[in-house]
Amino acid sequence: MRVMGIETSCDETAVALVEAPAGAAPVGRILANVVYSQLTEHRRFGGVVPEIAARAHLERLDGLVADALAEAKLGFADLDGIAATGGPGLIGGVMVGVMTAKAIAFAHDKPFLAVNHLEGHALSVRLTEDVSFPYLLLLVSGGHCQLLTVDGPGRFTRLGTTIDDAVGECFDKTAKLLGLGFPGGPAVERAALGGDAVRFALPRPMWRKPGCDFSFSGLKTAVRQAAEKLTANDRQAIADLCASFQRTVGDVLVDRCTNALARAPAPTLVVAGGVAANVYLRSRLDALAISNGIRLVAPPVKLCTDNGAMIAWAGLERLRLGQTDALDFRPRPRWPLDSGERIAA
Ligand code: KG4
Ligand code: ZN
Repeated sequence: MRVMGIETSCDETAVALVEAPAGAAPVGRILANVVYSQLTEHRRFGGVVPEIAARAHLERLDGLVADALAEAKLGFADLDGIAATGGPGLIGGVMVGVMTAKAIAFAHDKPFLAVNHLEGHALSVRLTEDVSFPYLLLLVSGGHCQLLTVDGPGRFTRLGTTIDDAVGECFDKTAKLLGLGFPGGPAVERAALGGDAVRFALPRPMWRKPGCDFSFSGLKTAVRQAAEKLTANDRQAIADLCASFQRTVGDVLVDRCTNALARAPAPTLVVAGGVAANVYLRSRLDALAISNGIRLVAPPVKLCTDNGAMIAWAGLERLRLGQTDALDFRPRPRWPLDSGERIAA
């Protein structure tokens, strides 16, 4: 079974082809995975500009589809399904991807699959690792921060979510405040390498409180106040603040996952989403998993941030279950993972 996946919900234009045996095979294979990051388009604004993103997707997508097919030495006739992110995300970009996928599916008489972007992150680990359901998922990205039990494709139970900001957004804001550039996550992680993680005592919102919800706005404010007191260009102080911030985020994530594991025990803890690329945070979660006698599994770093392979893979998992979508699927700017809904209300 071979599926094309198209991802255009934010600032990466991405196309991939993945393959797996038709049965319930444990892992898949990536045949092509091309990503165009719109970094140069958005950098001078310090964040993603939706209108610019949509136009850039439109300009690049056809070329990337051709590149992916060429890389895999395949034609449309060799594919069994065409998947695209159907939401949630920036609606202009989602429309570009969905319309392109529908057009390919219609022209070549292939099934179309509208994939929830979050489900793409949620299932991505199964593309490369033999992980069976159920598992506990910590989904940490630029727009989301959630804990869920994953029982299968389309079968999610949300245990907790952020009541204000997403953790990736907090990394991005910290980087911006400290002049480390965009995107913020990797820049903060790099700066933190040479820093003292206990120099700044920052608040740990929700820490040791019951439940599995998150909050990051207080931490964001505390980082801003600490940053305002720094002398300009004090590289060591910036490194120390990044390291202290990262440790604080680690404390909070570990604390929330501890509560989630107590409430919904699972043999595997999976971390996914852009922030899962962070090596320090992975090591903290790994230690938590070991102390609970379970295993931590994370996608390879390059499959943590947005990519087409995760969309193709989620599409393939759905195709195996016969869950395809009609060509009148409407892109969804909002699409909660635990809603169980497939078609726009
Ligand atoms: O999953 P993703 O690519 O896009 C969304 O669906 O939101 O996540 C992007 C987020 C950004 O906020 C980015 O700063 C963060 O993931 N990120 C990281 C790292 N790499 C990306 N955060 C912390 N450490 C990293 N190494
Ligand atoms: Zn994402």
